[in-house]
Amino acid sequence: MGKDVIIACDFSSKEQVFSFLDQFKDCKPFVKIGMELFYAEGPGIVREIKARGHKIFLDLKLHDIPNTVEKAMRVLSNLDVDMVNCHAAGTTAMLQGALKGLTREDGTRPLLIAVTQLTSTDQESMEKDLLIEKPINEVVMHYAKVAKDAGLDGVVCSPLESEKVHEVCGKEFVTVTPGVRFADGDKGDQKRVMTPHQAKLIGSDYIVVGRPITKADDPVAAYERCVREFLGEE
Ligand code: C5P
Repeated sequence: MGKDVIIACDFSSKEQVFSFLDQFKDCKPFVKIGMELFYAEGPGIVREIKARGHKIFLDLKLHDIPNTVEKAMRVLSNLDVDMVNCHAAGTTAMLQGALKGLTREDGTRPLLIAVTQLTSTDQESMEKDLLIEKPINEVVMHYAKVAKDAGLDGVVCSPLESEKVHEVCGKEFVTVTPGVRFADGDKGDQKRVMTPHQAKLIGSDYIVVGRPITKADDPVAAYERCVREFLGEE
């Protein structure tokens, strides 16, 4: 399983994302496409970015009845994406449906990653709105275990949770971690952050980095710095 830096392409139009990607002449970074760009431009944007040679994490966080998710995942798999996700809260039958839908006739499929509790959900909102009264860390680890037992490949989690997820679900279970910032960079609205190097030490498999790259004066240099810190030997 490969480790990599994934750039969160949080743009609202095709023009913006292409003018950003055009700056990368010598490399084709792994990119994350989210709901905003996908809903604005449709599946064509995925095909075009793929045709340019990028790997794609399609971050649409599916959550519906198993049959609907299975069929939707079949469509996404045919788009030839490399990684997709869904909510672990859909429960085991939905996660298994997602896996079934994603698996192509030749047996290959994109990586399937679960969202546990969103980082915007805290203990209070979980208890009040979802009637879940266990400690949130326990809930996150339980969702990761449910995802693992259903056959998924990993979870999206904070870099601070990576180590524990690997303890509970094994080293092979992939952790995809946003909330990454350079030591000398702006945190923005992210509260619990780690540098790419710290994320590497703690065992994150993929880091998802948005604004530290997309808003940098020199995005290519910022991306290369991330790669050096996360994948480098030192
Ligand atoms: O710009 P920044 O590096 O904060 O972007 C992080 C990306 O990861 C965004 O696309 C954000 O939606 C996503 N993300 C996150 N925290 C989560 C799940 C996803 O920041 N818990």
